Amino acid sequence: MSGFSSEWLALREPLDLAARNAGVEEAFLAQLPERPLRILDLASGAGSTIAALQGKFRQPVNWLLTDHDPALLEVAAARWDRGAASGVETRQVDLAGDLEGLPLADVEAVTTSAFLDLVSDEFLLRLTDRIVRSGKPFLASLTYDGRTAFEPSHPFDAEMCASLNAHQKSDKGFGPALGPDAAARAAGLFEDRGYRVVRGPSDWQAGSAASGFLQEFLQGWVRVGRETGLDKTALEAWWRDRQNKIRSGELHAEVGHLDFAAFPA
Ligand SMILES: C[S@@+](CC[C@H](N)C(=O)[O-])C[C@H]1O[C@@H](n2cnc3c(N)ncnc32)[C@H](O)[C@@H]1O
Repeated sequence: MSGFSSEWLALREPLDLAARNAGVEEAFLAQLPERPLRILDLASGAGSTIAALQGKFRQPVNWLLTDHDPALLEVAAARWDRGAASGVETRQVDLAGDLEGLPLADVEAVTTSAFLDLVSDEFLLRLTDRIVRSGKPFLASLTYDGRTAFEPSHPFDAEMCASLNAHQKSDKGFGPALGPDAAARAAGLFEDRGYRVVRGPSDWQAGSAASGFLQEFLQGWVRVGRETGLDKTALEAWWRDRQNKIRSGELHAEVGHLDFAAFPA
């Protein structure tokens, strides 16, 4: 099981929706044929890709949402039961093993969000190979790229971020994860295979309106810092300072992500 709760995904969704790169989305949408569409969404979670794209299509869209976690697929099904124009189907899969069984021939496009940083180089090779062979357009949104900047900053920010980025490369069920390198690597693989890639930043901007999110997000950093043996005194002092600044509404975090669309040149 992946360990992504629907509560956490709901906390991050408003930041995701605000951050998504409009130019990249437009480039993807422009590649879609002018007929009713079926779109395959990989690692759908609670269906955030539908939340982002609904209302932006010229054509009716039927979605095939895939995820490992049945509880998230249930949330997605309940959420989009009547919300998406031409229906939503959910399918529980383990993408690590089931990728080759997905019906790419029966869809007009493939999407994913906040997923590629979890996968290995070996999986990315398989994924790009399958998509390029199918000739379908692909949209990959919100892949973490390793940059986080706090305002106001703290002397221990850099150690915290380095420990988080190292942890991002641990195995998330696909072999050693690419973490912050994933989006650039994936875009390069599509280009090597003759696809055109349009890319752009989709950085989270989390300030006083996102205090619940910041609390959970940085609690995750603290967990990783403790597990990876960062200096305990420095870590706890950092966490006290960051929590005080979240409570007073002073803390702002910019968290780097990359979006890209890839399609036949
Ligand atoms: C950060 S969440 C993103 C969810 C959603 N795309 C979004 O943007 O809110 C990562 C998702 O990857 C899914 N996932 C992780 N490993 C998976 C696997 N082996 N097969 C299918 N889905 C997987 C998780 O269940 C989770 O829903």
